[in-house]
Amino acid sequence: MDKKINIAVDGTASSGKSSVMSAVAKQLGFDFIDTGLMYRAYTKLCLMNNIDFSKEEQIVSLLDQFDCQYKENDRIFVGQEELTSFLSDYEVAENIKYVAATVKVREKMVELQKKLAEPKNKILVGRDITTVVLPDAELKIYFDSSAEARAQRRFLQNQRNNVEPNVYEDILRQIQQRDEWDKNRAVGALTIAPDAWLFDTSNINIDQAIEIVIEKIKNL
Ligand code: C5P
Repeated sequence: MDKKINIAVDGTASSGKSSVMSAVAKQLGFDFIDTGLMYRAYTKLCLMNNIDFSKEEQIVSLLDQFDCQYKENDRIFVGQEELTSFLSDYEVAENIKYVAATVKVREKMVELQKKLAEPKNKILVGRDITTVVLPDAELKIYFDSSAEARAQRRFLQNQRNNVEPNVYEDILRQIQQRDEWDKNRAVGALTIAPDAWLFDTSNINIDQAIEIVIEKIKNL
């Protein structure tokens, strides 16, 4: 692609946005930035520093030392320390909602993400990318899929990866709870930008989704 562009992507949890868009990025030779990993890395940093998540002043106290860097193959470093393998920890998942709802944390993340996107040819994926981080991106996509389809996909993925416990009803409940938090928090809530392309992945597989997105980009 000759023209330099940015692609901003938001969507519900487990809607396939990261899997699809990282494959699209590879095909296009774009950098893929999963901004959820930044919120996860900051939550891990808080846990490493025994932060009390009920106290906002404690949560924001580590912002100055949060120099998050993305390396090849989705590896995340804060300072010299690699946090990649901790980002799916149960404790991270349990506490991330406090971090993601803190205004000063979001301001810092948005600033870092805008800077990452400046050179263009980036795909950023998250919850507030199309609305707050890159509202002027050349293409904005909102991924969605029914909660049941997302739970089923996650259930099969867990089966393949031998993740235990793996109970469909629990996964469905967690997904519905995350939707609720993501859509209703006071700052950085997940909303559909008026000019975003709505992409429903309920009834298609990942290869079909990649093909449809590539076609859409070719026609920009
Ligand atoms: O996308 P992922 O599930 O890894 O996101 C982890 C958490 O970070 C989610 O709870 C989501 O609400 C939050 N997040 C956010 N803003 C973003 C990306 C993720 O608040 N841009």
